[in-house]
Amino acid sequence: MTAPLFSPFELGPVRLSNRIVVAPMCQYSANDGCMNDWHLQHLMAMAMSGAGMVVVEATAVERLGRITHGCTGLYSDDNERAMARVIAAARGVALPGVKFGVQIGHAGRKASAQRPWEGGRALKEGDDPWTTYAPSPLPFDEGWPIPEELADADLARIEKAFVQAAQRAVRIGFEAVELHMAHGYLLHTFQSPLSNRRGDRWAGSAEKRMAFPLSVARAVRAAVPGDVALGARITGSDWTEDGLKPEDAVTLSRALKEIGLDFVCVSSGGIALKAKIPVGPGYQVPFAAKVRREAGIATRAVGMILEPAQANDIVTRGDADLVALARAMLDDPRWGWHAAEALGVEIPRPPQYARVAPALWPGAALVRPREDDEFRRSA
Ligand SMILES: Cc1cc2nc3c(=O)[nH]c(=O)nc-3n(C[C@H](O)[C@H](O)[C@H](O)COP(=O)(O)O)c2cc1C
Repeated sequence: MTAPLFSPFELGPVRLSNRIVVAPMCQYSANDGCMNDWHLQHLMAMAMSGAGMVVVEATAVERLGRITHGCTGLYSDDNERAMARVIAAARGVALPGVKFGVQIGHAGRKASAQRPWEGGRALKEGDDPWTTYAPSPLPFDEGWPIPEELADADLARIEKAFVQAAQRAVRIGFEAVELHMAHGYLLHTFQSPLSNRRGDRWAGSAEKRMAFPLSVARAVRAAVPGDVALGARITGSDWTEDGLKPEDAVTLSRALKEIGLDFVCVSSGGIALKAKIPVGPGYQVPFAAKVRREAGIATRAVGMILEPAQANDIVTRGDADLVALARAMLDDPRWGWHAAEALGVEIPRPPQYARVAPALWPGAALVRPREDDEFRRSA
């Protein structure tokens, strides 16, 4: 029997050849939302990584919903053309059966920020900052601007922007669309009591705080054809006393399933810098396991999943249906090939690179990262 990590999976209407997913990863390298050659090389490499699915980075549904000046968007025809070119090229070199998804989102009060390598703080005068928006006029942290409270007309505009971005994604040919409801961005700030203090129908009880994210999910589901998988990245915990808890992830997942979403990816944090997060291998997997068990929706786990055996165990135990890897994939863009070797599974490789197969190239044993490599563990 093949290792469960390499068994196929039906993600709603989409068949994945294995359980490995390249997690969405902002490259902060776009020009007014348009992908370029950086994204081309990045996604071409990820398409050959051995993962069954590649999810494209958080892509803004409107211009002011970008995190940084370098974030990708799907708010203009130029954005759509640029992304279509990159995805077509990535498909051209992808291993057989690889599926592509795109994460769409709105940065809310964490928009107008520097790229991480510039400091990751709020843009200052002279850096071409822009006005940020949120459910309530509460800044992300000290040194961040007070966002403007969104009026009902703004919410209608943003919901429409999600729908239009999803339609652009469908035209590009993505097999999956993922709504970004985590990491302190707009939809998460509606769900979390830490950031939503409105006095209207979008706030108060847990149910009302979920109402705007659910309204967006409903509108996007109605606009996306049935053969495209729709999912969301959600929060397993805000990691603070008064923030979201794993039970909230279950409640949200049940509601998303009811609306017709096909999957959730359970992440955490990103909403409060003071939160103490016990980061370590698989630290968010228990949230995914709880959601999968209690909400009964296809579930993806993420967060410090580094080693093939660890990833295989998560799927074997039934803690998650899929595992997403971010930094380990940047570190080793052939992670899937190496995981297959480690688990004794054959996967297709491009014939041009066939000679690196360990049976044909004894040197492989010398260059493979060791299981106990400290650098990989502390990524
Ligand atoms: C360079 C980089 C960019 C990221 N961009 C996104 C993003 O666009 N959307 C998202 O939901 N998470 C993003 N993340 C978080 C990852 O998807 C992932 O959840 C996180 O890194 C934990 O997984 P890991 O331990 O495998 O890296 C990013 C992470 C990295 C390292």
